[in-house]
Amino acid sequence: MTRRKLAAGNWKMNGQAAELAELEALTSTCPTPGVDVLICPPATLIDRMTGLLDRLGASTATGGQDCHSAETGAHTGDIAATMLADAGATYVILGHSERRQDHGESNADVQAKITAAWSADLIAILCIGETEAEYKTGQTLDILHQQLAGSLPDSADAARLVIAYEPVWAIGTGLVPTLDEIAAAHGFIRSALTTRYGADTAQGIRLLYGGSVKPGNATEIFSVPDVDGALVGGASLKASDFSAIITALEAAPAA
Ligand code: PGA
Repeated sequence: MTRRKLAAGNWKMNGQAAELAELEALTSTCPTPGVDVLICPPATLIDRMTGLLDRLGASTATGGQDCHSAETGAHTGDIAATMLADAGATYVILGHSERRQDHGESNADVQAKITAAWSADLIAILCIGETEAEYKTGQTLDILHQQLAGSLPDSADAARLVIAYEPVWAIGTGLVPTLDEIAAAHGFIRSALTTRYGADTAQGIRLLYGGSVKPGNATEIFSVPDVDGALVGGASLKASDFSAIITALEAAPAA
């Protein structure tokens, strides 16, 4: 089964209306027939970003960075998956390590959020990855196993699920695992998905690598088997950097 490549930008808590100007540069330099492009801005910008992308005639999708597991209710400051969809989002990042660390999100919380995202017709990007201490003590695959087992719902539609492998120690640090380490993690995730959902579904689920992806290392990361794209933080804030990463993904052989 062919999986469409995906370049996803995570703006995190960066960006106001003025930063939307970056989109014009991104969409003008980047026709991407072979790559799905996604930007997940702060929730305050989703509606305006979607409108601007429509006006620019761009196929770039927008997504949220988190959602609540409930559809409505007394949850001050939270945002429902249906609200993200209503604002124009088609994807949502869930279980990012910054959410797990800053907001104490458990695997069970993340699992409930994925179910809510699917009910709202959103594609869920589930983030998993080991901390530096876990990496140094050789626990990477155990952690991935636990996070997958606890965060994934019992059944899945491959078109609605993306997994991002993001070693916590590689996020925003400039550090990146070796290509062999990325290959081992992605191979492990693919086989865990096969055990969980069967080969047909598992083969259709896109696996992204995330953590210090930059124009200078994108090509070699995209050469790794089972890497179908990237979840990009810092480098997605600058159109020229994100465009270079998209171009590298476009040129990469199918995973
Ligand atoms: P980074 O962030 O590219 O800035 O390392 C990646 C992420 O957290 O998704």
